[in-house]
Amino acid sequence: MTNSFGSIKPLIWHGDAQTGWLEMLDQTQLPTTQTSVHCRSTEGVYDGIKMLRVRGAPAIGVAGAYGLVLAAQQIQSPNAADFLSELTKQANWLNSSRPTAVNLSWGLARLTRLASSMPISLSPSDRRNQLLAEAHSIALEDAAMCKAMAQHGLAQIPQDAGILTHCNTGILATAGEGTALAVIYAAHRAKKNIQVFADETRPLLQGSRLTAWELQQAGVPVTLLCDNMAAMVMRQGKIQAVLVGADRIATNGDTANKIGTYSVAVLAKFHNVPFHVVAPTSSFDLGIKDGTQIPIEERSPEEIICGFGKATAPPHVNVYNPAFDVTPAELISSIITEAGIIQPVTSENIRKTLGERWKPGL
Ligand code: MRU
Repeated sequence: MTNSFGSIKPLIWHGDAQTGWLEMLDQTQLPTTQTSVHCRSTEGVYDGIKMLRVRGAPAIGVAGAYGLVLAAQQIQSPNAADFLSELTKQANWLNSSRPTAVNLSWGLARLTRLASSMPISLSPSDRRNQLLAEAHSIALEDAAMCKAMAQHGLAQIPQDAGILTHCNTGILATAGEGTALAVIYAAHRAKKNIQVFADETRPLLQGSRLTAWELQQAGVPVTLLCDNMAAMVMRQGKIQAVLVGADRIATNGDTANKIGTYSVAVLAKFHNVPFHVVAPTSSFDLGIKDGTQIPIEERSPEEIICGFGKATAPPHVNVYNPAFDVTPAELISSIITEAGIIQPVTSENIRKTLGERWKPGL
């Protein structure tokens, strides 16, 4: 699924606020098939987020916002209080689809806050128009944040560098060029001599199915690694920087990201390789003190014992399948945001950089 300029887009809204719908690239089918699902109801968006058709923290924030516009299309009551109460109910439900990425609750909160500030005399159709305009703004702002992160991050990349990344943080994960991958695209455009090492990212293989695919399409040199090879390539001196994204960053800088990120951070510390988190300010949760308070999504055992349709474990074996882990702030060299670089990663520096930008989620 591409936009009119031919570039890959995970989400495209079609039509107006009254009858429009959301086209969602089905990322579960990549890299073999490029197909999309057409979401005409909140349920379609909820399922798409839960099943990882759309994934990546910023992208699910945008998807949630459009999902709430679809919810508003279903609300018939002309009464403002009824409208707000039903919209809030639908926002809470959408928010329950995936608990770790704070961008989802942040996007939904932007729409419910807007709805609660609307004059009671506003017609239902004008309410929907305003909600769609806000959802479009969230998407546009996310694309702009990706650009700004890329510019700030570029300076952190040496002229010749092997860069290790984990999961997918690119065009497929945002409304722009990505977080960590946006820095990589910028370095490639700036003619830096970079070689990306992409962890395959067990169990759902976002690194091999999505990152390797995305980078290959863009002509960025990429080498695919199984997750358990990172230590060896670091020891071989092939990695000069690690760049990852974030799903939720606590007030002290502890960062939740795809399971396996924490191990990479420990390895980077041991091998003296800088470990950078690249994330927009919408990924911060200043409502929580540290990483112990970040809700970690647990997913179905099937993803581990029968991933992609082939049994790879004995039936009924016990499985633990957390989708994210938390990297302690002390292992993070810097957090690159659209508002600047946070370094060293301390609560004080986070508050200074975020300033008035931070708004609570749902
Ligand atoms: O389970 P996923 O694929 O949604 O996990 C995505 C990640 O962990 C990304 O690294 C994170 O959302 C940052 S994306 C810009």
